[in-house]
Amino acid sequence: MCGIVGYSGTSDAVNPVVEGLARLEYRGYDSAGISYRHDGELHIIKKEGKLENLKKVLAQLKPVSSTAIGHTRWATHGVVNDTNAHPHGNDRVSIVHNGIIENANLLREELKASGLEFRSQTDSEVFLNLLTFNLDKTETLKDAIVTTFNRLEGNSAFVIMSKDSHVLYSIKRSAPLVCGLNSKSEEVFVSSDPYALVGFTNKIYFPEDEVLCESDYRNVDAPVQFYELDGSISKRFKIQQKEVKLDVVSKGKYEHFMLKEIHEQPELIKKLVSVYFSDHGLEQLKRIEGKKFQYIHIAACGTALHAGLVIKNYIEAYTKTRVHSDFASEFRYKKPVLNSDELGLFISQSGETADTLACQELCTGAGLKSYSIVNTEGSTLYRNCEENMLIHAGIEIGVASTKAFTQQVLVGNILAKTFAGIINKEEITKEYYLLSEKVSKILDREEEIKQIASEIYQRNGFIFTGRGAQFPIALEGALKLKEIAYVHAEGYAAGELKHGPISLIDENMVNIAIVTPDLYDKTLSNAEEVKARRGIMVILGDEGNKELSAMSDHYFGIDMDGLTDTTPILTNIVLQLLSYHIAKLKGTDIDKPRNLAKSVTVE
Ligand code: F6R
Repeated sequence: MCGIVGYSGTSDAVNPVVEGLARLEYRGYDSAGISYRHDGELHIIKKEGKLENLKKVLAQLKPVSSTAIGHTRWATHGVVNDTNAHPHGNDRVSIVHNGIIENANLLREELKASGLEFRSQTDSEVFLNLLTFNLDKTETLKDAIVTTFNRLEGNSAFVIMSKDSHVLYSIKRSAPLVCGLNSKSEEVFVSSDPYALVGFTNKIYFPEDEVLCESDYRNVDAPVQFYELDGSISKRFKIQQKEVKLDVVSKGKYEHFMLKEIHEQPELIKKLVSVYFSDHGLEQLKRIEGKKFQYIHIAACGTALHAGLVIKNYIEAYTKTRVHSDFASEFRYKKPVLNSDELGLFISQSGETADTLACQELCTGAGLKSYSIVNTEGSTLYRNCEENMLIHAGIEIGVASTKAFTQQVLVGNILAKTFAGIINKEEITKEYYLLSEKVSKILDREEEIKQIASEIYQRNGFIFTGRGAQFPIALEGALKLKEIAYVHAEGYAAGELKHGPISLIDENMVNIAIVTPDLYDKTLSNAEEVKARRGIMVILGDEGNKELSAMSDHYFGIDMDGLTDTTPILTNIVLQLLSYHIAKLKGTDIDKPRNLAKSVTVE
């Protein structure tokens, strides 16, 4: 979704801002813009479409500036065009905005009645105009920002720059925003995503909601200062001094980030053992060992929800606690029955998904404990939960989530066993190392998967089926395929086929059936029903299974020997590669599929 990058310092501002925006391209956007300050005047350049369009204009203009803010916009209010792109500004201030101002229409009418004009269709311009209006009524820009911000409803992050100074102001409510500092080179940064600042800063600040941040590189004692809305100094922020290396954010030898991230999985799986059985990891496991809850509510979105469905099975199996796993967007509005002796468990790669955050708030409000399984340390979800099980997947750039799913499931497995009081280092090490080996073996067989993809990619539709532990994988396989290959795909519980979807089966429909030893006979007969209706059968099953191989058009046998809980990871990785190769044959934008955003920070 929208991305923000701001810079102020002793060097050129335009390049780091554009570089930061380029890093945020993976999040999805449809226009980009920059505002910079030069000789006490504000300039704005913005272009519909890819960042390249903006870069071309900048290459001609060669702007010179040491204070700038930039933005990539993912349209919510108003069509995609240059005017609606950010920054928005006038001769006094420029602003960038992420999120939604819910009372924008009301405020717009008020401002129009006071004679202010609107050029764009965006809610963001409402903030700009209200801020400009308040500038005449308050003493300082800081006061005007606070007065304006106090009138807004909804979740938003803003960065504000004035023609009069090099200082950047930023403020947010339930939307991501970080401030960065490079103390060695006297430079300050602001961004909606710390990833944009990798390599530029040596300190990242995570302010809490409704804290005004003042980034002033010339203020030697406090180049990044935080204020409460009443003007007093605020301590409501966290600092991270961890350096992230730049090579983790390049594609390396791979054509796409998605493929690189799929191939990272064997190492990441093993990493979980070293992390969770280190002194620090064991300390955390000790803290939650044997914890009992009357009921566990899992809420998440998309791939993270599918991980939640696998985790639900683990928790129920090991702890005999009832667990419900739900779409965060449904959970938050269905008036769930919540009691304070229950747990809210939230799963998220980004830790910034608006619906998931809303569920967490709802649970906290009802007195429940909140735990997360999350990738992004310091994210809003991370900050809001009592206990965070980090998945240690590293930065995930491909919009289609792959390695995060694997890590979420495996961390969920550790959590379930810890709750049950049966966590055992030797057992986990054995299972995860064996899994890692078997994942590597699958990755070595990528050519076989590519071959299957080449034989089915032009078909009309795809139904993914599985039962029990593999049912969430059927859902996830279908989600991955539709999001990156733009083909119709559905995930179904195999036993549900004959209650409706079987009418879709003909010689153009592909059934990707996951038939593992668990519930084998039942799943086999579901596959036979499809076969009898001339559907094209791609079967994923256990290695050397002649029966399955004989009945399928394409068989992919998987070595699952010795694994107990983690076979869904193996089947899922086959499907990740299958989706990837189908998408490649179709020529889609694999890392940045159309209409999608990496982190869905609005409802
Ligand atoms: C699918 C995908 C999305 C995300 C979902 C939740 O490949 O990436 O479905 O899983 O938007 O995002 P997080 O995990 O950041 O909360």
